Amino acid sequence: MTTALVTGASGYLAHRLLPIVAGHANVIGVCRQPPIGNVDAVRYLPLDLTDRAATHSTIRRLNPDVIIHAAAANPGHDESTMWAVNSEATKSIAGIAGELNSRLVFISTDIVHCGQHAPYADDAPAKPINAYGQSKAAGEATVLASCNRAIVTRTSLIYGLEHIDRGTAGFRKTLEAGNELTLFDDVLRQPVWIDSLCNAICLLAFDRTDETGTINLVGNQVLSRADFALKMLRHWKVSTDNSTNNIKLASARSIEGLPLDCTMHLHRARGLGIQLPGVDSVLAAA
Ligand SMILES: NC(=O)c1ccc[n+]([C@@H]2O[C@H](COP(=O)([O-])OP(=O)(O)OC[C@H]3O[C@@H](n4cnc5c(N)ncnc54)[C@H](OP(=O)(O)O)[C@@H]3O)[C@@H](O)[C@H]2O)c1
Repeated sequence: MTTALVTGASGYLAHRLLPIVAGHANVIGVCRQPPIGNVDAVRYLPLDLTDRAATHSTIRRLNPDVIIHAAAANPGHDESTMWAVNSEATKSIAGIAGELNSRLVFISTDIVHCGQHAPYADDAPAKPINAYGQSKAAGEATVLASCNRAIVTRTSLIYGLEHIDRGTAGFRKTLEAGNELTLFDDVLRQPVWIDSLCNAICLLAFDRTDETGTINLVGNQVLSRADFALKMLRHWKVSTDNSTNNIKLASARSIEGLPLDCTMHLHRARGLGIQLPGVDSVLAAA
């Protein structure tokens, strides 16, 4: 049977991705912390991806047919950690994937864009304006340069309906503490339902292995960050009524390093028959 190595196995995306990958392959999940709910079929392996020698020897020994590289230091980490994980560790992984001729799927982000030239094509060149975007863009470049069988997927805010996403959890905490919550109404994104994203990643990892380059995998509905937050808070039964809460809408125009409009085309995903429903249709179906 096919062997798949998934990095970021303790992360938010992985809690839905791993069970789906386990339907295609023997799965080894790499992380440092305990995962969100153990998936029985997955063998978890502790590994610090910034340890280059350990990463090389572990992946060489496992010799996976497929690597899904979902580990990342997301915004909130310091710049040197973001660089070490998103760029340098990605460079190690891509180098070995190239050497072993493994299929590599790298999970990237819409934040590689500056937010001034939307809508972005699948192959739009990265032009990041913050440290996270820069580190992920460097990761993308090294993946495409080092591994012939790699595809870079650019995704957006990931949410699920069973396990609260990090952003919404943070907003809920702010409100529950009785603090004012400021939401940006001019930051545009295409939040992506975790299950649709996981299915798309698996299609690219196991079936459409001839697909290379970059592909946008975002939900097909553009929402402001504020609208998305309010929809998610209501889904998680948090009151968004300002008679009991203090929610303020604001512009992000004056905030340096925050891309405003990361709207993306979905031409390539549509051509592959990938379904990426928007937030309203996911909530309505639920
Ligand atoms: N969540 C979003 O809304 C969003 C939006 C756009 C793109 N993405 C991309 O989607 C992917 C998955 O995101 P996520 O939300 O699932 O991330 P997450 O919940 O923050 O999880 C990050 C994962 O990376 C692992 N990791 C970080 N540093 C590591 C290291 N030095 N060695 C080994 N593992 C390390 C963490 O494992 P340990 O902590 O156990 O080490 C964890 O499993 C990432 O590539 C991210 O950039 C996410």
